Amino acid sequence: RSRDWPPVWTSFVGRRASNSVYGWPDEAFDIAWRTRRVLGHTVHLVSEPDAIGRVLLDNKANYERPALVRRLLRGGLGDGLFNAEGESWREQRRIVAPTFSPAAVAGFAKPIAHVVQEQVARWPAGTRPMDMAAEATSATMGIIAATLFGGDSRLTAPAAAGHITAMLDAAGRARLTALLGMPALGPGSSRARAGGRFLRDTLGALADERARTGGRDDFFGGLVAALHARYPAPQARELAVDNAVTFYVAGHETTANALTWTIYLLAAQPLLQETLRVEALAALGGDVETLDARLPRLRAVLDEALRLYPPAPRLDREAMADDELAGHAVRRGDLVSIWPYVLHRHRAWWDQPDAFDPERFLGDRRVGMHRYQYLPFGAGPRVCVGARFAVVEALIVLAHWLAARRFSLRGGPPPVPVGRVTLRPAGGMPLELAPV
Ligand code: HEM
Repeated sequence: RSRDWPPVWTSFVGRRASNSVYGWPDEAFDIAWRTRRVLGHTVHLVSEPDAIGRVLLDNKANYERPALVRRLLRGGLGDGLFNAEGESWREQRRIVAPTFSPAAVAGFAKPIAHVVQEQVARWPAGTRPMDMAAEATSATMGIIAATLFGGDSRLTAPAAAGHITAMLDAAGRARLTALLGMPALGPGSSRARAGGRFLRDTLGALADERARTGGRDDFFGGLVAALHARYPAPQARELAVDNAVTFYVAGHETTANALTWTIYLLAAQPLLQETLRVEALAALGGDVETLDARLPRLRAVLDEALRLYPPAPRLDREAMADDELAGHAVRRGDLVSIWPYVLHRHRAWWDQPDAFDPERFLGDRRVGMHRYQYLPFGAGPRVCVGARFAVVEALIVLAHWLAARRFSLRGGPPPVPVGRVTLRPAGGMPLELAPV
């Protein structure tokens, strides 16, 4: 262990509580294969890295997003990138990918820093309890509007945040999550419906303006122009709105949860926080565009937080034809369920899986890992298109938070992770914030 890396305290990283929330028995963390019947579907829980590699990459054409999930999602995400398959998916991914490339994401560093600086300036002085889950959500929501939609005031107004939150919350609450852990974005409470309407109407108006002016100077303008170059106008508009909603849904709560769990892990580690604060203060003094590159320790902590609390705790696929995975027969129509949450704490693949040990991700220690044992962003062609964006965003937000306040745990039981669409703490994340 390097001398400037303080020892970490691991005992609070609970597994059982979350495990019972999911309904998977404790042995799931020991076995690599388990088959269940769920509401008429055969579901295979696969925690074997080679088999996962076959599903996500080597035999990828045989494993699509389950038809049932796509049907449920269509009401909200339409036929946007997350919910598309085949040629339509390939075409949209080709259009969207360059706007999330490392070079393009570097250009988002400044607006990200600006949003978090304004947030920190609003925090009360003195020692105060704060719900860091709510703070994280407010930061990521502001960042999506600032980076992808040119900071349009219709999306950043306080009322807009209420509408968007209502719609996204409904996605998280949907009953059908019991079946597949996925949201039913279509039906929902009247607030959620109003929220969904607001989001689609506002984003539709933005798409029309960008199409009229041909403006390409922000992410959404570029996307609208690219879609219009490829599809007839009505379809291009529909896909622009579908993708705009998709980026809101896929890109805000996942990152918010990554921030929440990371700051929770750090709240229990005053010494480690101090080390990271020094790193953050030094990095914040330099060029914003390369800020994340100057935060190697914080990056290792983020990677470890994404291992223990993966914000997307499960990925599902449906077999298009019979196959064999890790010696087990998979029939056409079976569902294959890959749980990063289980895989990341599996005793066969990790040493002391429940321990918080960020050094796993520093330097050489990462080299021995199997390519498919750590999947916070998925893998293969459907790997998270926003992965680089999310990492840069999380590092910049965390660096600003750490530079501004000390975080400590409040009394009471540790927060229980609830795995619905994302892995979020039940009841928020109340922490104590003190001046530095
Ligand atoms: C896909 C995780 C942030 C947009 C995915 C997948 C995972 C994931 C696991 C693959 C799902 C599957 O294979 O079934 C995460 C995590 C994030 C994050 C953990 C934050 C820590 C973001 C951000 C954006 C985004 C910031 C955009 C602004 C998407 C989209 C897809 C996706 C559009 C679908 C890609 C496709 O199917 O081609 N994400 N994501 N994500 N993510 Fe993320």
